[in-house]
Amino acid sequence: MSRLKQTQAWLALTQHYEATKQLHMRDLFDKDPTRFDRFSLQLNDILYDYSKNRVTDETMALLLALAHEVDLPTWIERLFNGEKINHTENRAVLHTALRDRGDTPVMLDGVDLAPQIKAERERVKVLARKIRSREWIGVTEQAITDVVNIGIGGSNLGPLMVNEALRPYSLHDLKVHFVSNLDENHINGTLEYLDPKTTFFIIASKSFKTQDTMVNAETARQWYLNGIGSDTKLHRHFSAVTANTALAREFGIADENIFHMSDWVGGRFSLWSSIGLATMIAIGEEHFEELLTGAYKVDQHFRNTPLEKNIPVIMALLGIWYNNFFDAQSVAVLPYDQHLHRFAAYMQQVDMESNGKYVDRAGKPVDYSTGPVLFGEIGISGQHAFFQLLHQGTKLVPADILAPIFSFRCIPRHHRALMSNVFAQTEALMRGKREDEVRAELQKQGMDEEAIAALLPYKVFPGNRPTSTFLFDTLTPETLGSLIAMYEHKVFVQGVIWDINSFDQWGVELGKQLAATIENELGDGALIDSHDSSTNGLINYYKQRRPPSKALAKS
Ligand code: F6P
Repeated sequence: MSRLKQTQAWLALTQHYEATKQLHMRDLFDKDPTRFDRFSLQLNDILYDYSKNRVTDETMALLLALAHEVDLPTWIERLFNGEKINHTENRAVLHTALRDRGDTPVMLDGVDLAPQIKAERERVKVLARKIRSREWIGVTEQAITDVVNIGIGGSNLGPLMVNEALRPYSLHDLKVHFVSNLDENHINGTLEYLDPKTTFFIIASKSFKTQDTMVNAETARQWYLNGIGSDTKLHRHFSAVTANTALAREFGIADENIFHMSDWVGGRFSLWSSIGLATMIAIGEEHFEELLTGAYKVDQHFRNTPLEKNIPVIMALLGIWYNNFFDAQSVAVLPYDQHLHRFAAYMQQVDMESNGKYVDRAGKPVDYSTGPVLFGEIGISGQHAFFQLLHQGTKLVPADILAPIFSFRCIPRHHRALMSNVFAQTEALMRGKREDEVRAELQKQGMDEEAIAALLPYKVFPGNRPTSTFLFDTLTPETLGSLIAMYEHKVFVQGVIWDINSFDQWGVELGKQLAATIENELGDGALIDSHDSSTNGLINYYKQRRPPSKALAKS
C-alpha cells in the first residue's frame, strides 16, 4: 500500500468519510448560522467562500493534518527556493521567480535569476512599447496593425486567456490574434483578413520543435514572402519566444527579435515569462506588471499564511476530499464573467497536464486516484447546457464559480440578473428541493394528487452538490494574476499530496512519436499494414479517398 494511504490522516479521513457522507449541507447550514463566516477567506479584493462544501470542522482539521503529514510546508519552500522538484527533467520550477517583487535574490545553481529575468523582460517591453506606439514599422514603413501569436499549449492558452480576460485594457486599433491549430483553417482564417505589410508574428515555442507551431510558422513565413515578394525585411515582421535560440535563428529570426524563456519555467506556467509578449503588446507593460503583482501577492500569501487560512491549500484539500474519498471524477470551473471565457480551457492544461499521472515520484503506480477531469464554460451558458447533470445527475461534480461584483460597463440590468443566477445556482446546488417542497409547490398550482405523484420524482433535487465561489471586485490585471496563481498553487499542493511530479508531461510524447511515423506513411499512395487493424484501416481508407496527388505533399 502507498505511503499516502498509510498516513494517519488518510486513515482517519477514510473513517470520517464513512461517518459523515450522508450529512446534508442544508442541515449543516441550518444548524450553524456562522458557517459562511467560518468557511470563507478573503485575499485583497477576492472573497473565497467554501462554506457550500461537504465539510465539517473535523473534515477540515483532518485534511489539514494530511497536508502536514505529507510535509506540505517543506515542499512549498522547495518550490520557491528553486530545488529541482521536477526530478524527471532535472529542473527547478520557478515561475514564481518571474513575478517576484521582493528584493531577496532568487537563486538557482548559485546564480541570482532576478537580473536576467529583469533584463529579458525589459527587452520584451521595448518591443511591445514600439509596436504599441507605432514606432515599429514594417517592410513598407507602415506601422503594425495586427500581431499573430503562433503557438500551442502553454505557448497559446495562457496568453490567449489573459488577452481575452483583459480585453477592456487592450488597444482597439491593434489586434492580437492567436493561431494554434495545425488545421490550416486556423491560420488561413486568420491571415485571410490581414496584410503582410502590417502584420507581426510571434513564433512562441519553448522547444521550437512542436510540429503544430512549426508548420504554422512556415505557412506564415510563406504567406509573408508571397505577399511581399522577398525576405529582406523579414526581421521587421517575425519574432520568437523560445528556450531554443539556435532553432529560432535557423528559422531566420533575427537575434534582436528572439526572446528567451528558461527551462525552469514549464510551458503551462509560462504566461508570466517572455511568452507574455503578445499580452504585453495587447495590454501594455504597466498592466502586465499589475498582472505579475497580483500573482506575487498570492505567492506571498501561499508561502507565508498558515495552511488553515491559505486559499490555494484549502482549494487543493477540498479537491482531494472529493477526488479521493467521494470518488468524484471531475471538477467544473464556471466563470460568470464573459472575459473569462477561455479560463477553463487554460486551467485544463494547468491541471490535467500537471496531475494526470499514474506513477508516483518514485516511479511506482499509485493506488489512489490522481488529477480529475477539469471542464468548464461560462457559467450562464453552462446553465442552459450541462447544469442539468450537475443538479440531478448521478455524478458528484464539485464546481468553482467565479464572478465579478462590477463588470466594466456595468449596465445594472445585466449585472443584477447575472449575479442573481450566481447566487441562485450555488444555493440550488447546495439545498436542492425535497419531495415535500415539490409537493407543496404543485399543490399550490392546483395540480391533482395523481398528477403530482406522477411528476414528483422528476422535480426533486437531491442538493448537497458542492460549490466554491470566488467573488472579486472587477477583473483587473491584478485580480486576474491572483486568480491564476491560486489555481497554479492548488495544482501544486495536490501533486504534493498525491506524491506525483506535477511539472513533467511525458504523457504527451507517445502520440507525437506515432504521428511522426504516420506522417511519413501518408506521403505516398502505398497501403500499409504496420499497425493494428483499426489504425491500418483508417489510414488506408484515408489514402484511398485521397490519392497521392491530393495527399499531403511533404514540403
Ligand atoms: O505537447 C505538450 C506541450 O509540450 C506542452 O507542455 C507545451 O505547453 C506545448 O506542448 C507547447 O510546447 P512548446 O512551447 O515547446 O511549443
